[in-house]
Amino acid sequence: MPTTTFALADSMRRLGTESAFVVLARARALEAQGRNIIHLEIGEPDFDTPEHVKNAGIDSLKRNRTHYSPASGIMELRDAIAKHVTKSRGVPVTADQVVVSPGAKPIIALTLMALLNPGDEVVIPDPAYPAYRSIVTYVAAVPVSVPLLERKNFRLELDALENAITPRTKAIVINSPHNPTGGILTPDDIAGIAAIAKRHDVLVITDEIYNRHCYDAPFASFYGLGGIPDQTILIDGFSKAWAMTGWRLGFGVFPKYIADAVGALMLNTVSCTATFVQDAGIAALTGDDKPVQAMHDEFLRRRDMLVEGLNQVPGVTCKLPGGAFYVFPNFSAIDSDDIRLAAHILDDGNVAVLGGSTFGPNGRGFIRLSYANSEENLREALSRIRKALASYRRA
Ligand SMILES: Cc1ncc(COP(=O)(O)O)c(C=O)c1O
Repeated sequence: MPTTTFALADSMRRLGTESAFVVLARARALEAQGRNIIHLEIGEPDFDTPEHVKNAGIDSLKRNRTHYSPASGIMELRDAIAKHVTKSRGVPVTADQVVVSPGAKPIIALTLMALLNPGDEVVIPDPAYPAYRSIVTYVAAVPVSVPLLERKNFRLELDALENAITPRTKAIVINSPHNPTGGILTPDDIAGIAAIAKRHDVLVITDEIYNRHCYDAPFASFYGLGGIPDQTILIDGFSKAWAMTGWRLGFGVFPKYIADAVGALMLNTVSCTATFVQDAGIAALTGDDKPVQAMHDEFLRRRDMLVEGLNQVPGVTCKLPGGAFYVFPNFSAIDSDDIRLAAHILDDGNVAVLGGSTFGPNGRGFIRLSYANSEENLREALSRIRKALASYRRA
């Protein structure tokens, strides 16, 4: 056993966590004790990666494409991404604006590291995907929250957004479709946000990783509709659309000088993304789109079923989310202590869910459920939640 411990860097105290992974570990520990848990905590599609994508990865391995690649990605994939973004967002993009990374998450971290000095401010919706706030505080910059309100269908309020901007603001982070609420921005919202960004000369970091999961209206892309590509950074990836979470493959699209900076950080950290994984990414972008559409249709059925079921649970109300694969029901009539409620639903009901406040204080009283699980399991989860709530007592 070591007798001395060494002080960690002070910056480690500013790093956050991601509750989905924490709750997953707790749920797995309960499973190891023989419990049957339904997992609605983790944000990954329960489908298999499409066959043609898997085959492209296997073929690449067989061709010994197992060596280092350039830090920002192989040119064939950067080129395919540039063409894909040009087509899907309607904005001309070139391969030298693209950086490929092992998942979208490193792109978020490296982008913020490339841009922020201590004391810089970044406007972030509350609730939000935890990585934004965690990395902003890690680099000693300052996250500034803008609440997303249930009564506004969790859309950004433009006045609140503009009021949050100060001379120290470097960037605004937006994410549509949104994790954890499933909320989406409309073309009008996008025009309003772009006007604010222009007026105050700030960057917009638009995380569009759920762009293939829009259910009631076509996807409205800030990158495509904002009209300020010199001021916009696009974050996207393969995890959610092609069910490729474990492959680790994401990308960013930047003004070229920022792409170069993020590429330099890639070189100094992970070196590069696995080459055969990048080959699989080309197959995803250029191959048959039917598997992605089939997943979309299945998610849509589950969303409708789950929202209807949740609204029948006494004390629970649930908005119909326009995108992603999460619902964000309001449990505050039962208890606003969502962390305690989520723990009870896991311990007593054997359903793993996330307390809304783990995504920011404004998520208090809400629970995030992922519907990346079978319809049968979702029905069973509803019945277990109902039973667990019947035995719930506030502290
Ligand atoms: C909003 C958002 N952005 C980015 C990511 C990161 O995805 P990945 O690193 O798997 O590509 C996630 C994953 O849950 C997410 O919800």
